[in-house]
Amino acid sequence: MLWILRLVLCSLLTPTRADPGALLRLGMDVLNQVQNAMDESHILEKMAAEAGQKRPGMKPIKGITDLKVKDVLLPVITMNFMPGVGVFQCVSTGMTITGKSFMGGNMEIIVVLNITATNRLLQDEETGLPMFKSEGCEVILVSVKTNLPSNMLPKVVNKFLDSTLHKVLPGLMCPAIDAVLVYVNKKWASLNAPMPVGQMGTVQYVLTSVPTTTPSYIQVDFSPVVQQQKGNTVQLADDAGGAEFPEDYAEGSSQLLLSAAFLTAELALLQKSFDVKVKDTMIGELPPQTTVTLAGFIPKVAEAYPKPKPLVTQIRINKPPKVTMKTGKSLLHLHGTLEMFAARRRGKPPVSLFVLETHFNLKIQYSVHEDRLQMTTSLDRLLSMSRRSSSIGPFKEKKLIGFITDFLQEAYIPVISDVLQVGFPLPDLLDMNYNLAELDITENTLVLNLKLD
Ligand SMILES: *[C@@H]1O[C@H](CO)[C@@H](O)[C@H](O)[C@H]1NC(C)=O
Repeated sequence: MLWILRLVLCSLLTPTRADPGALLRLGMDVLNQVQNAMDESHILEKMAAEAGQKRPGMKPIKGITDLKVKDVLLPVITMNFMPGVGVFQCVSTGMTITGKSFMGGNMEIIVVLNITATNRLLQDEETGLPMFKSEGCEVILVSVKTNLPSNMLPKVVNKFLDSTLHKVLPGLMCPAIDAVLVYVNKKWASLNAPMPVGQMGTVQYVLTSVPTTTPSYIQVDFSPVVQQQKGNTVQLADDAGGAEFPEDYAEGSSQLLLSAAFLTAELALLQKSFDVKVKDTMIGELPPQTTVTLAGFIPKVAEAYPKPKPLVTQIRINKPPKVTMKTGKSLLHLHGTLEMFAARRRGKPPVSLFVLETHFNLKIQYSVHEDRLQMTTSLDRLLSMSRRSSSIGPFKEKKLIGFITDFLQEAYIPVISDVLQVGFPLPDLLDMNYNLAELDITENTLVLNLKLD
């Protein structure tokens, strides 16, 4: 029985994953886009238009008939992070309320007001998405002016208006706050939806936990799910180290961090496509890919093939590709076999000359195109090469280093570049334009410094 208890306790105490595969920090710059949301959604104007109409539950203003709301001022929204809670929002606006007064004349009330609310940041239990929910909406009257005749006692009128407006305005204005939040929440509705990586599989940005709010940003931790087309999930390596924030980031700015472990998992989707067979004899600046050229490095080839034959080279990547990152430099490690064949005539299968176990590194350069992370590579180093089999007898692998290095650079890298063009999807949220992001390679982490239009 004890082991069950221990199991339960352990699963309760240890977080699902200590190192997030991806991590997002939203600073005030991104949050201020909520202002745009309010403008775009024309919430207040709609409220004003509706205000004149009789709606169930809306209290009439006593003594005023034919009520209309017009000239809603462009709202000014200010926001502050509330650590551990979410965002405090204040919408300052104003409007003119018109109507027929109990004295019979036309009446205008010019109100300036603040609507304040706490937008609590939660995680929707059903969808797993981050969600803002407003609490404690209040309307604060900043000023109230009327065109009522001066013979009426202003104090009494003001007192009357004040209490009446306090009763009426929250019902009128607070739905605006909610409507803005609905609008914002919609902007990350597809955040955790599976996004395709070509035909190879999908990537899903699943939230690790409820987003956290600090005095200067909101942090969203992701445990990304990388899945092959067949449905198998690629596990993120734990030993590779999770995404970590560099110390020197600008206050109020926003970043997306992708860990080397996550990029490694994404590249696993492409592993099969890194296997290639090259049959061309003329490739770029390379000497002709024939047994004659090869005989220049391994004389025994000339004995076996006195007449020149075209070469066929097959590369098979037999370990998952691995991404590593050190400040300013990222590498892609590839382990596999390189087999060279001599072609024969008339559809006869080519003859294997030798198989080499190889380990080589590609230097990765990252960029962003639309909502995808792009990688381009160049050969960094051929790290090791050892003969596994040979039909032409033993030879010194060292002699082939230059030949194989040139082959990888000229013939193999272009294939890899083609495969990588598919790009890796970035989280879909708040209509983020990743094109403007500035990229930084740090320890185990790719940092995208998000810039807004
Ligand atoms: C209304 O909001 C503005 C902007 O946040 C603030 O400067 C002002 O003090 C507020 N007024 C009242 C009466 O709360």
